[in-house]
Amino acid sequence: MNLSQKKILLGLTGGIAAYKVADLCRQLVKAGADVRVVMTSGAKAFISPLTLQALSGNAVHDDLLDPNAEAAMGHIELAKWPDLIVIAPASADFIARAMAGMADDLLATLYLATAKPIALVPAMNQQMWANTATQDNISLAKKRGLQIWGPASGEQACGDVGLGRMIEPFEIAQKVDEFFNHKPLKGQHWVLTAGPTVEKIDPVRYLTNRSSGKMGYAIAQAAANLGAKVILISGPVSLACPLNVERVSVESAEQMLAAVKEAVANADIFLACAAVSDYRAKQSSDRKMKKQDDNGLQLELVQNPDILKWAANEADCYCVGFAAETDNLEEYAKAKMQRKGIEMICANDVSRSDIGFGSDYNELAVFYQNAGQLKQKALGPSLKLELAHELVIFIHSIIKS
Ligand code: PMT
Repeated sequence: MNLSQKKILLGLTGGIAAYKVADLCRQLVKAGADVRVVMTSGAKAFISPLTLQALSGNAVHDDLLDPNAEAAMGHIELAKWPDLIVIAPASADFIARAMAGMADDLLATLYLATAKPIALVPAMNQQMWANTATQDNISLAKKRGLQIWGPASGEQACGDVGLGRMIEPFEIAQKVDEFFNHKPLKGQHWVLTAGPTVEKIDPVRYLTNRSSGKMGYAIAQAAANLGAKVILISGPVSLACPLNVERVSVESAEQMLAAVKEAVANADIFLACAAVSDYRAKQSSDRKMKKQDDNGLQLELVQNPDILKWAANEADCYCVGFAAETDNLEEYAKAKMQRKGIEMICANDVSRSDIGFGSDYNELAVFYQNAGQLKQKALGPSLKLELAHELVIFIHSIIKS
């Protein structure tokens, strides 16, 4: 395990498993990481800050309102400092406070103030873990892109047996190592499109669709997490740019095509997840179009360029498309794959309200060419963030095969 030059912020909350984190801290430091520890008041009831100060070699942070600590490294500076934040043990109370956006102690404030990747390592009584409130908070944490490591099952300090034990320090250290060093896509360059396009009719009206960008952004995040250089060409959405991803913001299909042409030159993969408007107004007006007295408006539409088809024909990279269908999923997706000249297409049923447009979940039927045969793989239903990770790993395995 090599964690040299890695900056890890270790957050401890109140729970008996806190005593095990001394060993985790020792292992991370031994692997070369620079570790800073933040403790809640609950954590300090289970393990002394002095122990963690001695093991990490750095003063422990535990007070949001301590002027001396703030002068040394203020909480905003501390939130920007790490490459990874590991919260172990993460109590039910801490997870609930974090998900509610509370900033009532230093650790919860850091959670709110950071843009860095965070792993929660839950540890609690099995009934507390099973409680719907905790499960809802865990689902929310996953949706927000946090990693959840564990919990494990077994005998608990309180005598109960079940799911809720913190995974062991060596397992947490392994996951930290995996986070930094398992980068199968390192050296690869991915270009993605995501979100809707917006086709102007006049300064206040436009043609668009219901794409939220969630699916494409999740894929961009997954590819970046696995080590790829990622350029995300995005239509207008209300999502933050994923970590370690370069975003190019566009509005119309023509702008998206121009951005793709520029970005795709050295790409290994082009993945088109954007819901591109097939048509735009033949003429858009610079002034608001006034309502006429007669009973209608004729809007002449012309076809937009097909970005994916352009990439399949002109760019020297593996092209993956999406197919948004409401019926005949398989037939239409396969036809689209052929028409556009691509080797893989991910079909999703956008007539369903539980997946597809706007949802946090999706289910894909992936059709792909492999060894001269057309094959199929089912992915999901699952959270788009989890599905994206599986899809990226799958694309990588097909390209390598
Ligand atoms: O954004 P979300 O709310 O998370 O929803 C995700 C999604 C449903 C938008 C996504 O999973 C999806 O299906 N994206 C593709 C939507 C789409 O436009 O599908 P299509 O069947 O119309 O297009 C087929 C493929 O050609 C797509 O890869 C599309 O990006 C591409 N295309 C289409 C038209 C065009 N002019 N240029 C293109 O590149």
